[in-house]
Amino acid sequence: MCGIVGYIGRKQAYPILIEGLKRLEYRGYDSAGVALMPAKNIINVYKSAGKVKQLEAAVAGCDVAGCAGIAHTRWATHGEPNKENSHPHCSMGGRLALVHNGIIENYAVLKEKLTAEGYAFASDTDTEVLVQLIDYIQKKGNYNLVTAVQLALKEVVGAYAIAVMDRENPEMIVAARKSSPLVIGLADDGLYLASDATPIIEHTNRMVYPDDEEVAALYKDGSYRIMNLENVECCHEAQTVALNIGQLQKGGFPHFMIKEIYDQPECLADCMRGRVMADMNRIVISAVNNYKDVLMRAKRFIIVACGTSWHAGLIGKQLIESFCRIPVEVEYASEFRYRNPVVGKDDVVIAISQSGETADTLAAIELARERGAFIYGICNVVGSSIARATDTGSYIHVGPEIGVASTKAFTGQVTVLAMFALALAQVQGKISGEQMKETIEELVSVPDKIREVLKQDDYINNMAKVFTYAHNFIYLGRGYAFPVALEGALKLKEISYIHAEGYPAAEMKHGPIALIDMNMPVVVIATKSPLYEKVVSNIQEIKARGGKILAVITEGDTVIKEMADYSIEVPETMECLESLVTSVPLQLLAYHIAANKGLDVDKPRNLAKSVTVE
Ligand code: G6P
Repeated sequence: MCGIVGYIGRKQAYPILIEGLKRLEYRGYDSAGVALMPAKNIINVYKSAGKVKQLEAAVAGCDVAGCAGIAHTRWATHGEPNKENSHPHCSMGGRLALVHNGIIENYAVLKEKLTAEGYAFASDTDTEVLVQLIDYIQKKGNYNLVTAVQLALKEVVGAYAIAVMDRENPEMIVAARKSSPLVIGLADDGLYLASDATPIIEHTNRMVYPDDEEVAALYKDGSYRIMNLENVECCHEAQTVALNIGQLQKGGFPHFMIKEIYDQPECLADCMRGRVMADMNRIVISAVNNYKDVLMRAKRFIIVACGTSWHAGLIGKQLIESFCRIPVEVEYASEFRYRNPVVGKDDVVIAISQSGETADTLAAIELARERGAFIYGICNVVGSSIARATDTGSYIHVGPEIGVASTKAFTGQVTVLAMFALALAQVQGKISGEQMKETIEELVSVPDKIREVLKQDDYINNMAKVFTYAHNFIYLGRGYAFPVALEGALKLKEISYIHAEGYPAAEMKHGPIALIDMNMPVVVIATKSPLYEKVVSNIQEIKARGGKILAVITEGDTVIKEMADYSIEVPETMECLESLVTSVPLQLLAYHIAANKGLDVDKPRNLAKSVTVE
């Protein structure tokens, strides 16, 4: 979490940095700050608690000149989210300014050492320790900034993407990374750096991705050097990044989240493009083709993921097991990495991550790799750390997701998992041509079915008004619908701050039924499936206790429609793909409840989109 951005070149840095921070706010929005270096011996630092807008207001009227600058938007780890703890942090005396995304784990030891050397600290952060350490090393050895950064980083345990400026050398910004993302943009007017490509793309699409423990020196004349901590030059080819600027804007919608919900039909079509063959007989997933021997040899798949991606993994398990008949386990990456799991060379680990930066997922990958497993990544952000750490994988290609609550990435992940399962079953010879064709036809019809669901947005909004001030919700589903229930409950919790629980419908009688009364709305995914009759019984049990039923039903189902207090009809869909359709009304329900409450839907409190700390 936390986003960093920097610029050095011929243009004024401040507007570039502020716009860049706004793009990075999905990474954290507890505080923001900027440091500008207009000339030798001057660094102007401005900070504010809260969002980037508050920083802009605080800076109004101040001197924001300078063609070199760095900026930061924070998701607090060490120290509360106030102005003092905001970045950039400066060294004592103000020579250096630094922004940091990550965690310096050994900051306490370093702080003690620096305090003994006479350094005083103005904040509670680990980052201030790092800037003081660089300052200390620089002064002690009379080193240039690059050397001082290299030496300091050798003493650091933890994760970092940093950018540092030295007011005695206004011609240069130094950046470095380890386990936190950093991208450098190469433009005619100068050099850009950021936590990801989104703040840079409107200036240039030529990007360089430094590796772990590399340090980049960016010069005002547009030249740059990348070295490792031993000062050996590292060569990285510039990549052309395809990112559509329109995807980074709200396009007339009040929030990114609702835009992203509405984007899903096109996003899923993009996700399937070039993979589902026109004759509808085949699915081509290049990673499955290229690694079919490894995948077919696997005795087991282990899916590791966090949050919404974990819910997609639960659906992936059912898809892979039913089409490929290979056992699949789904693990929270944070648990997997710390519990000495049984994993080895017969396993394929599938890591699912929208951002491709989640620290726990990355650590789970490293552990599985050490033990000999083959790693397959399913990511959205191209070039992200997880995408690069895996042996192979598939991008979901749904475009940048800005709203903190994941929507289109979830359906994109499920779509890729469905295609993966079908492609693998195909190379295994476990699926008949007829079943393949039928399933593919269903898959390609999903975008239109989602369009049908979106037409009910007004109805869902009206329904949301009734439940805006509920204190609790229960979500129920069975089979493929159980992860949808979990995801629906998570969406509601994340953005509306209403307590919600997802349960397999039949488990209700083992506890949650005690909670049912007239104040308890129960969302039931009750579409036509082999378990339909059983879900009908579950609904009756809730009705008998006065609970309010909000049912997601198959179009034309009059039975549940009569039983439920509210029902949302969705087009009939093959059971294994139904989650792609049934999750959409639950996204809309959560969105409208949060929007009705006037909450900051895209930036819910305490959350961040990219969780680069454990
Ligand atoms: C955070 C986000 C969630 C996301 C989870 C996993 O908690 O707020 O929306 O599902 O991280 O992120 P990933 O990028 O690995 O999918």
